Amino acid sequence: SLAVPNVQELAWSSKDVPARYVRPELELDRVSKDESVRVPVIDMSKLVGGCDDEDELAKLHSASRDWGFFQICHPNRSDPKLDRRHNRYHVKIQVINHGVPDKVILKMKADIQEFFSRPLQEKMECAQLPSDIQGYGQAFVVSVEQKLDWGDMLYILAQPQDVRNMRFWPRVPSSFRATLIQYSIELEKLKGILLSSMARNLGLEPEKLLTLFEEGVQGVRMNYYPPCKQASKVIGISPHTDVVGLTLLTQVNEVQGLQIKKDGKWIPVDPVPGAFIVNVGDVIEIMSNGEYKSIEHRVVVNPEKERLSIAAFHNSNRNAVIGPLPDILSKEQKKRAPNYKSISYQEFLKLGQKATLEGKEKGL
Ligand code: SIN
Ligand code: FE2
Repeated sequence: SLAVPNVQELAWSSKDVPARYVRPELELDRVSKDESVRVPVIDMSKLVGGCDDEDELAKLHSASRDWGFFQICHPNRSDPKLDRRHNRYHVKIQVINHGVPDKVILKMKADIQEFFSRPLQEKMECAQLPSDIQGYGQAFVVSVEQKLDWGDMLYILAQPQDVRNMRFWPRVPSSFRATLIQYSIELEKLKGILLSSMARNLGLEPEKLLTLFEEGVQGVRMNYYPPCKQASKVIGISPHTDVVGLTLLTQVNEVQGLQIKKDGKWIPVDPVPGAFIVNVGDVIEIMSNGEYKSIEHRVVVNPEKERLSIAAFHNSNRNAVIGPLPDILSKEQKKRAPNYKSISYQEFLKLGQKATLEGKEKGL
């Protein structure tokens, strides 16, 4: 990887945006204005605690199939978009504690905001090493011509315990490490609930995906997009699909920026307070033989406000074969042709690091 400037510092300076960040090819104007096109919202409380609501399962299925992206609301939150009849049920769910507790999310948000607000020198104590993506720095850069994204990040492997390298974990704020561990444990639980519901929807044994993702590496990418006076010329994250299984995203400060591509248009994803955005990644697309979609997405930059987000990437088990699942190929006694090759996890990782695969940009 080649060293590139710190974008937060660059944004502070009064200089024009350097040429490497200017992206005329991105058609930033091609954004859907259609208010009725909204990312589906799934009510998790209907999928947990032995209560698998058939309607909600069906909703999850079509969201994974037709969108590859959806939001899930925090169970104890009465979101006006949700069916009011179920508010009481939300409260019950909160008591039996299946959702990610608000305080865990809020603490994670506060600690990452604090980290990015520290002086550069302090943040650089967690700096990336050459040729490694982990730590504080920028997305992978492989050539001096490569265009650059308008954002910094702190990327940390958080689960399972044996992958942790504490040199990249901030010491300031002092609660950061404990907060991230707590957050990552809660997200592992959420991953489990989603994977078993998805397995059911795909006609698999409920345990099937859980087993394939057991002990899978969870990488947490905390993004900082400074404001940019020439916001319409730059991009926070270039269009890509996630090379992992399942991404769980928190929009930290409710500044809009994430957009997903649907039917040729870019659709902004409104931040819903307390919600997680779930993004089907390439591995689930492949395992489902294409039934579930790994959707292209990108991040745009705000002219006045900084934006922060936390993306937790869930990978399959390191021994899993990445390919269409035999049970899916033989579903309903039919024989289906595999639409993807089957390769080892290690081979898959190497492919993911290449800039393009099937014409799509690959990344996290
Ligand atoms: C974000 O919404 O900032 C993150 C999107 C991504 O990780 O691709
Ligand atoms: Fe992504």
